[in-house]
Amino acid sequence: MRGDWARAALVHLFAAGVLLLSAPARAEDGYDLWLRYRPIEATAQAQYRPLATAVVSQATSPTLDAAKTELTKGLSGLLDRPVGAGALADGAVVIGTPASSPLIAGLKLPLAPLGNEGYLIRSTSIDGHAVTVIAANRDIGVLYGSFAFLRLIQTRQQIARLDISSAPRLKLRLLNHWDNIDGTIERGYAGHSIFDWHKMPDYMDPRYTVMARADASVGINGIALNNVSSDVWMLAPMYIGKVAALADVLRPYGVRVYLSIKFSAPVELGKLKTADPADPMVAAWWKQEVDAIYRQIPDFGGFVVKANSEGQPGPRDYNRSQAEGANVVADALKPHGGTVFWRAFVYSEKDPTDRAKQAYNEFKPLDGKFRDNVFVQTKNGAIDFQPREPVHPLFGAMPKTNLALEVQLTKEYLGQATHLVYLPVLFKEVLDWDTMAKGKGSTVARVIDGSLEGHTTSAMVGVSNIGDDRNWTGSQFNQADWYGFGRLAWDLNLTPEQIAREWLAQTFTNDPAFIDKMAPMMMASREAVVNYMTPLGLHHIMATGHHYGPGPWVDDLPRPEQNPVYFHRADAKGVGFDRTPSGSDATSQYAPPIAKLFAGPDIPDRYLLWFQHVGWDHKMKSGRSLWDELVLHYDEGVAQVAQMRQTWDAMKPYVDAERWSQTAAFLGIQAKEAQWWRDACIAYFETFSHMPMPAGHAAPPHDLTYYKAVYIPYAPGRTGYTAAPFKNTPKDPDQNGIATQIP
Ligand code: GCU
Repeated sequence: MRGDWARAALVHLFAAGVLLLSAPARAEDGYDLWLRYRPIEATAQAQYRPLATAVVSQATSPTLDAAKTELTKGLSGLLDRPVGAGALADGAVVIGTPASSPLIAGLKLPLAPLGNEGYLIRSTSIDGHAVTVIAANRDIGVLYGSFAFLRLIQTRQQIARLDISSAPRLKLRLLNHWDNIDGTIERGYAGHSIFDWHKMPDYMDPRYTVMARADASVGINGIALNNVSSDVWMLAPMYIGKVAALADVLRPYGVRVYLSIKFSAPVELGKLKTADPADPMVAAWWKQEVDAIYRQIPDFGGFVVKANSEGQPGPRDYNRSQAEGANVVADALKPHGGTVFWRAFVYSEKDPTDRAKQAYNEFKPLDGKFRDNVFVQTKNGAIDFQPREPVHPLFGAMPKTNLALEVQLTKEYLGQATHLVYLPVLFKEVLDWDTMAKGKGSTVARVIDGSLEGHTTSAMVGVSNIGDDRNWTGSQFNQADWYGFGRLAWDLNLTPEQIAREWLAQTFTNDPAFIDKMAPMMMASREAVVNYMTPLGLHHIMATGHHYGPGPWVDDLPRPEQNPVYFHRADAKGVGFDRTPSGSDATSQYAPPIAKLFAGPDIPDRYLLWFQHVGWDHKMKSGRSLWDELVLHYDEGVAQVAQMRQTWDAMKPYVDAERWSQTAAFLGIQAKEAQWWRDACIAYFETFSHMPMPAGHAAPPHDLTYYKAVYIPYAPGRTGYTAAPFKNTPKDPDQNGIATQIP
């Protein structure tokens, strides 16, 4: 018996040894995000170990303790030996602020320029001991610096001669969760809301803390907890108590809470007769409501408001301006240091003006009328988070107003959970866009960081992609969008490629054979989705409601400005929305040189059909006809996804099985859907162009009726919706009347 046991143990040990030698990593499911802290290679461990022997923290506070915990956990994991809190010795990592640490105070470090959130990491010597200090003016800076120090090891940088200082370029770096109180998420593709309101405040899910750590690790310093299309209950006392409990959990990580509010709350909740912002009773109600919130949450961030947009109530209901609406709430928040994010995503079915022009028309005249604690929160483009949009004309057009940039991390129009599309490329395209508002160099980055117009506050907002899926974001690679948003909002100068490389290193492996292939793949993924969905400036041709899959033919929605045909305007002559002076004249909302470019023959191909209606045989810069160019782009998109699959296939040896196979399966879905998009759009536009397929490009395998009949009743992300009864769904002639299959 004993012998058998020993033999069995040996076999096990051997098997384990083989596993250790050959397996790329142990089973992983993405839960640990980029904060995995798995042991690094032995050679690297040997280099780093003497430089990170213990963590010295001379005071306690919730934030300093979070920093200490993160460092001991991270260093112990990465260096594969216990690194605890300890006393001053060679190799110690000394953390703190001058106020909390006599050791740090004694160094007289140049911390003043780093503000409240910046940090300094320096290799130095204290009492004859070679140490690394992570110092800041405030505890939160120490936490940010601790994450940065761990990142250095995670990405295998040297840590022997450090002299790094870093401070965020933007003051407010926020996520907007579009979570409903019932647990569903508007445009959420990663499961349900992680906020379990029903059990709060008695049970606080440990995931809240893990999320706060992740937010802090990339510098995100605030989150709005609920959907912008808001439920008035969120302001009810029972929920404010729950919000306060959540704020307590997030506070050590520097994450302040904000709420989306409904403008009609004074009526619905306060039982007033009106929500008219000019009514003193309404102002008094907001004040009393806000005071009550601050009694429970002294560092409450403020409100996000979607007003007079897509059915939401707002000041216009009382013939008041957006500024009057924003200011009544801002005045209530002001004494407490709170902020209003007033959204510019405003358009109306009653306004026949080009939808792309409406927000500018409404907000530009209000420049200078908003209080200084109001941001006008403006989406990156004037329509709605398309795969590519020209930048919103409001950037650069409201010099006397704080403008916040809103981007969407959840991929409503970009393939949702499964398509691998690395969004920091899109964000950077927006930030680098030159508005020309004050001559060359008036980039969106300089508009939002306040430097162009001398504003003292600044903000960037991302619509969260977080849900309760085990991997948080619905796919492994969607984590990169969360990560990249935070990193970019902290440092607008980072390149998407740098961010991709550091994310890959932390999330998967540092092996250059992996990163050198994967970073270019991520970088190319954004152009791929533009190609297979909306090339050459096409936009908003997604299927109705859920926006999943193609629907360029849709023309029967009651609101004209929500129909795809409104946006592409294909006819026998050509395609594209004429927004030049001969059309809607949206071009004139841009600075003159840009307006001229977009209305003229030199418009870049990528914006052509956004601004111009051109003939199917229009000669493109390539010399090809528009029709041929369109087909080429669709095929290029499909080919790019095929290439991505090949790249990922070759990455199998570097990635653990679970994350590798999920990503491989998702890329398979993406390939199928890219083909669907390409075939359906070509089949549709061909009915107008009547032009032959260019040589070497195959015609779509089905005719248009087939693609039009595809009906997906319950694609995720659309809350509060019931699909049409089965018998009313369109019929697919090729599939015996069953019309719910993607080809
Ligand atoms: C889009 C999106 C909505 C969302 C809206 C907004 O229209 O489809 O779900 O509510 O944007 O940003 O307010």
